[in-house]
Amino acid sequence: MRNTLYKRMLCKLILFSIFLLTFTHMQAQPVTIPIETSKQALVLQTDAESRLRTVYFGKILADKNEYPSASETYHFDDNNAGIYNSVYTPAGTWNLSEPAIQVLHADGDPSLELKYDSHQTRQIDDNTSLTSIVLKDPVYPFQVTLFYKVWKKENVIEQWSEIHHTENDDVVLKKFASANLYFSNDDFYLTSYHNQWAKEMQPVETMLERGIRVLDSKLGARAMLLQSPNFILAFDQPASENEGSVILGQLAWSGNFKLEFEMDSYDNLRLIAGINPFASEYSLPPNEVFKTPSLIYAVSNNGTGEASRNLHDWARKYRVLDGQGERLTLLNNWEATYFDFNEEKLTALFKDAKNLGVDLFLLDDGWFGNKYPRNGDNAGLGDWQENVKKLPHGIGYLVKEANKAGVKFGIWIEPEMVNPKSELYERHLDWVIRQPERPEVYFRNQLVLDLSNPEVQDFVFGVVDKLFTDNPELAFIKWDCNSVIYNAYSEYLNKVGLPQSHLYIEYVHGLYKVLERLRKKYPKVPMMLCSGGGGRGDYELLKYFTEFWPSDDTEPVERIFMQWDYSYFFPAIVTDNHVTDWGKQPLKFRTDVASMGKLGFDIVASHLSEDEMKYCKEAVQNYHSFKDIVWHGDQYRLVNPHKNDIASVMYVKKDKTRAIMFNYLVNNRQRLATAETPVKLNGLDPEKKYRVKEINLYPGTRSWIDPDKEYSGDFLMKVGINPIVNLRRTSVVLEVNEVE
Ligand code: DGJ
Repeated sequence: MRNTLYKRMLCKLILFSIFLLTFTHMQAQPVTIPIETSKQALVLQTDAESRLRTVYFGKILADKNEYPSASETYHFDDNNAGIYNSVYTPAGTWNLSEPAIQVLHADGDPSLELKYDSHQTRQIDDNTSLTSIVLKDPVYPFQVTLFYKVWKKENVIEQWSEIHHTENDDVVLKKFASANLYFSNDDFYLTSYHNQWAKEMQPVETMLERGIRVLDSKLGARAMLLQSPNFILAFDQPASENEGSVILGQLAWSGNFKLEFEMDSYDNLRLIAGINPFASEYSLPPNEVFKTPSLIYAVSNNGTGEASRNLHDWARKYRVLDGQGERLTLLNNWEATYFDFNEEKLTALFKDAKNLGVDLFLLDDGWFGNKYPRNGDNAGLGDWQENVKKLPHGIGYLVKEANKAGVKFGIWIEPEMVNPKSELYERHLDWVIRQPERPEVYFRNQLVLDLSNPEVQDFVFGVVDKLFTDNPELAFIKWDCNSVIYNAYSEYLNKVGLPQSHLYIEYVHGLYKVLERLRKKYPKVPMMLCSGGGGRGDYELLKYFTEFWPSDDTEPVERIFMQWDYSYFFPAIVTDNHVTDWGKQPLKFRTDVASMGKLGFDIVASHLSEDEMKYCKEAVQNYHSFKDIVWHGDQYRLVNPHKNDIASVMYVKKDKTRAIMFNYLVNNRQRLATAETPVKLNGLDPEKKYRVKEINLYPGTRSWIDPDKEYSGDFLMKVGINPIVNLRRTSVVLEVNEVE
């Protein structure tokens, strides 16, 4: 008996010791979470307090087992400023630096602590994995789940967060970032992009200094009118095309955004990106989930060229609607007619479209409104019935006539907006975003509809649905959005007892809901995203759109710069470029520039001279023969117009058998000698032999390039070729073909 008792006690003692050992071991053993692409690792690790920190962001290690040691190389004194490298920095407790999240609990307490709880990684397919990490507040039933979706081959990461609680009333979210990253390095160079109407994507590169550099928007709709949520972050040296570590990033959110780049007191960099908390406190009821938008970024240790090509591949394969599909070339009537057209004028333009050789005619603004006809931008917006004077036989007739002429038909809408001079405004003042007690403030004579209201969502859905139901052969939509939100106030939110501070966020959610419904019913019809030019164009909206309009500025020299800068983030297949009458460059120059993307025209083709028409038709034919390379190939930015007198860009077919190279003179001061040095090509097979032929020659001109000469890919990439761009040849398009 005694013996058994003794044995039991011994057994208990052993078990207890094992428990104690395991427990101490668990306490001492940090949890390390490596998130790896094929080249890059983001390593997170718990500290002694179970707070999760970023301990490494850099090239992957050959031996994964060495990641846990990364943290030992840092000796931070955390006593005064909190931990800068927190993976999701909370406010109200130990942290005194810029937070990623700030809340007011149901009981009014403003403190938040987040400790590691659990994590898992799920393999979605060979190339894609999703890691989720749960962080919990030890005091309140409040948690945040961080998501990291990784596309290994493309070295692209998408990060977002989900916030959830089971407190006994709403928790007010005061700040709720998508991602909170930490980079340890000597110097950081940030390129940000600044916009205005017709002046989009103006890059500014700065070396970051102590303090916080903020990129943000508070415009509500047309959110990128002044700043863009795209950025390049370069490590140690300014961003360069073929060398150095860089990140190309974007916050994929179509409303107010805020990206904060904070250089901390160790000269390391904290990046906090998400919805702009400005006027947007969000009351989150218990058991609901608040999902933030995504921060998407491509990482490369070989410069911006490789990062872009990877981002392009990712966008086409995984993100943009029909990213690997085809696009429609078109003739648009906006600058050809503005609001002044009728059936006769339009049917003549259908013939022009056919004559040019494009696929589609796009009818722009001005086709609707009867009580308040849309003859200018001050009336009719919201009344989506054909104007009977201009179009007595309706859209259906136009679709048929276009088809008869041999082209498809597409149409412009701006369904989120309303002119005060409209029947919609008269009927539904309650649908309009406006301060009831204050004078209305207009942007382009219009106001924004309140998409937080489900009735407005139905209306917007209905505008598009009716067009497609009435005209099943409608082949294309241009969806415009010309106004920012002034006097942000929603009658609907008031009615349902929700705070006004939800408006900016619910507007965007409402827009996504409409697009979700539309894409369920019409999964593939191509739609162009436009926002008074390039006020929109983000990877969340591009889930629903096949392409976007980068800018109303189509002056071709300006456009070379703009397309260059957009190309860091977007593949050519999603950017629409039109040949217009902007600027003084010859038609050839304008057409060549517009061919570096999805080609369109917005001119009166019947006004072209015989030679111009001949040139255009041949250029369109050529475009059809090489568009596959521009849309689906690899892009190489060869000569930077920001730093040189010429610009040179090439697109290479994935199998390296063909390429197309565009070269332009971008500085036409007198006596410029620009034909002195060759341009080194890129992306070819060094072993293959190629011939280089100039195409898109203007009638009556001859090429200065010998089309019969053979070069090795090695030669073309090391020595290069001189496109002979000069004041007499300002635009030169070269086709590079493998010698069979
Ligand atoms: C702004 C767009 O950027 C233009 O292309 C044109 O569609 C006008 N709106 C029409 O109002």
